[in-house]
Amino acid sequence: MSDEQSIRPFLASLEKEGTLLRVPKEVDPVFEISAFLSAADAGPALLFEKIKGGSALRVAGNLLNSRTRIAAALGITPADIVPRIHEAIRSPMKPVQVASGRVQDVVVTENPLAALPVPRFFEREARHYITAGVILARDPHSGRGNASFARFAVHDGRTAMVGIAPNHHLALFSRRAADAGEALQVVVAIGAHPAIQLAACLYLGVGDDELECAGSLLGAPVRMVPARTVNLLAPADAEIVLEGEIDARQPLEEGFVSEYHGMYENYGPGFRTTFSALTHARDAIYQAIEPGYHREHVYLGALPIAASLRSAIAAVVPNVRDVAVTEAGAGRTDIVVQIEAPRAGQARRAMFAAFAAVSLVKRVTAVDADIDPWDPVAVDWARVNRMKLERDLLLLPHAGTDRSEPMEDGGLVTKAGFDATAKPGDRVEGIDRALPTQAQREAARTWLINSLPAEKRGWLK
Ligand SMILES: Cc1cc2nc3c(=O)[nH]c(=O)nc-3n(C[C@H](O)[C@H](O)[C@H](O)COP(=O)(O)O)c2cc1C
Repeated sequence: MSDEQSIRPFLASLEKEGTLLRVPKEVDPVFEISAFLSAADAGPALLFEKIKGGSALRVAGNLLNSRTRIAAALGITPADIVPRIHEAIRSPMKPVQVASGRVQDVVVTENPLAALPVPRFFEREARHYITAGVILARDPHSGRGNASFARFAVHDGRTAMVGIAPNHHLALFSRRAADAGEALQVVVAIGAHPAIQLAACLYLGVGDDELECAGSLLGAPVRMVPARTVNLLAPADAEIVLEGEIDARQPLEEGFVSEYHGMYENYGPGFRTTFSALTHARDAIYQAIEPGYHREHVYLGALPIAASLRSAIAAVVPNVRDVAVTEAGAGRTDIVVQIEAPRAGQARRAMFAAFAAVSLVKRVTAVDADIDPWDPVAVDWARVNRMKLERDLLLLPHAGTDRSEPMEDGGLVTKAGFDATAKPGDRVEGIDRALPTQAQREAARTWLINSLPAEKRGWLK
């Protein structure tokens, strides 16, 4: 059976290059797995081989915790990630139904959640959380598909609370089903191919199916098998799938929960989810994403948001070159838009397009093509040296935001735009960098690279 849409080849390549560390010692799902993932936040992927409590499944985490890792998972370079996802948004590929898949090697209908090694992550959270579940559902109105992540807090062997931001499409579909007197059928894929995980974080229109972008990212339609207990298809090559239904008519209180900014929130009740089946590969690996302000959570959100914003901004500012979503903004709230030869007014247009496209976005900095938007020092250099604050700082009070925004007040926050692009006439001396000739710089760099041991080459710019 084809392995190409599973996470296994990626795990094998991480192990081969020495960036996957096996943890053979027994680890406790209560805080210990989380402590390991947090300690290795920017480091190797971890594969926990023995889980306290008797689950036969292994646990993997910190898989997609940098741009480099995400690029490797897609087989491209970090600089190509945003353009590649942007292209996938423009060329969707419908999934294909296949008769069978490794995700259904084992089918469990009694207490489906009990067999999973679900971690408890943080001290003030009351429950164990499934954090790497890509939830697939259909719009009760149009029948169109949707894929997105949302957390499940486990209550018992069949029941969990799902916490979905009210503006997310899955929340909308759940409410639409409830209005029709029904629960919303879902399948939840854990350990899906990274292309599916990235697509699930895209901000598309209601009814634009993220799985079709995943197919385009994979270069082949996502292979899907009929679920066993709900009327939906499930990714055939995922490690694990849960089948069930979300009932928006049945609130379940959550209490404190971590958010991407690294602090706790208390959103009140989420929706009750009842699971009817667990299916998994014979030797399945359970994926755990360390939530809160941890790098896998940050970057998995950041790159698809960057690509979604690039698409939205390109519609009105066609000379946008790149969009970065910063680590300081937890891959959500703070973005940098790089514009090629911006014309007067284009930086502000890009800001408004970004604010409109993703309500989480709170700060937008516009930079020229000579500034790497992914380099925070370079971007700050532009803010310090290319702005007249009285002219180039935009403050947008009372703007709508998400409930997750740390400074929100009644659903509103002040948003800011920093136009850090160079303006004609600001400096009679021009904006050229003071540097030796390019030929001499390249020659010097080559000499140094050849002279330095490999581990010291990080000294070079
Ligand atoms: C690891 C991870 C966990 C996430 N958890 C949640 C969550 O618990 N609730 C939520 O509303 N969004 C969560 N998100 C964000 C949504 O998946 C994301 O915003 C998605 O684009 C929303 O889907 P939609 O555009 O179909 O509404 C998470 C994202 C990641 C990367």
